[in-house]
Amino acid sequence: MVRHFLKDDDVTPAEQAAILRLAHELKKSPYSARPYAGPKTVALIFDKTSTRTRVSFSVGVSDLGGTPLIIDAQTSQMAGKESVADTARVLERQVAAIVWRTYAQAGLEEMAANSNVPVVNSLSDDYHPCQILADLMTVQEHRGDLKGLKLAYVGDAANNMANSYLIGGALAGMHVSVAAPAGYAPAAAMVSRAAEIAATTGGSVSVYVDPAEAILNADVVTTDTWISMGQEAEKAKRIADFAGYTIDESLMSQAKSDAIFLHCLPAYRGYEVSAGVIDGPQSVIWDEAENRLHAQKALLVWLNEQSN
Ligand code: CP
Ligand code: NVA
Repeated sequence: MVRHFLKDDDVTPAEQAAILRLAHELKKSPYSARPYAGPKTVALIFDKTSTRTRVSFSVGVSDLGGTPLIIDAQTSQMAGKESVADTARVLERQVAAIVWRTYAQAGLEEMAANSNVPVVNSLSDDYHPCQILADLMTVQEHRGDLKGLKLAYVGDAANNMANSYLIGGALAGMHVSVAAPAGYAPAAAMVSRAAEIAATTGGSVSVYVDPAEAILNADVVTTDTWISMGQEAEKAKRIADFAGYTIDESLMSQAKSDAIFLHCLPAYRGYEVSAGVIDGPQSVIWDEAENRLHAQKALLVWLNEQSN
């Protein structure tokens, strides 16, 4: 049966741990796995802009012996012309996997339902699960075992990154706490799904309005842009609504003194994070950006193995 990765809990806690172990191995031995030798081709489709995802999946597929095929949806027949299902039926006969950055989660589900090769969500409006694998790998490098660590996310807690931290962090057995102003809290269904998972892994989920409360004694502090791709028209309103939610030196001091700071990037210094924090000694954002490569390679190897 083919396995897809459309959201963080498309894998079990044990499977997430196995993918992360493989990611560390591949970081040490980058060319030790060659599932795409041939070379087989992997389709990388982009409906939204990208730097890290485009580079890390391209390099990763090459490292795994394959050929990355970048498809800019706007210049393909996908942009409002051909159905997702028909696109899947064409691609599945020629590529080894389909990696897609898009808007609606429903599109990914339709692609997966019509594809007998793995489909990977490389960011949707609802989730960014590949980023969370890289983030968890980075936390392991700097803090060791994930179980029992407190991860605090401050900012737009209704966006794709927040959802993936809630679900992916809960799978890893972390204590995930988020803080957001009114109107930007995570959906109740997302919180209850994360809490249900956390109950099986020893983690927990907490939602606050006050960022200082969420960050208190955290091991990991993180945030994301206040204006996600597709929300550009709300820029002025969002900047006003998020006043007081910048992770600066004073907020960061609420966390443990050895806490690390993560940001999926791109970052907007002076908005969701101060330059002092993101460019300061607690920030591990460049390790995090590099780990996209290793974590995604592990994911592709694992999906390929599971799907054969
Ligand atoms: N973090 C992330 O996904 O970056 P890009 O948008 O540059 O791919
Ligand atoms: N929440 C951001 C993440 C960018 C990697 C967005 O969707 O634009």
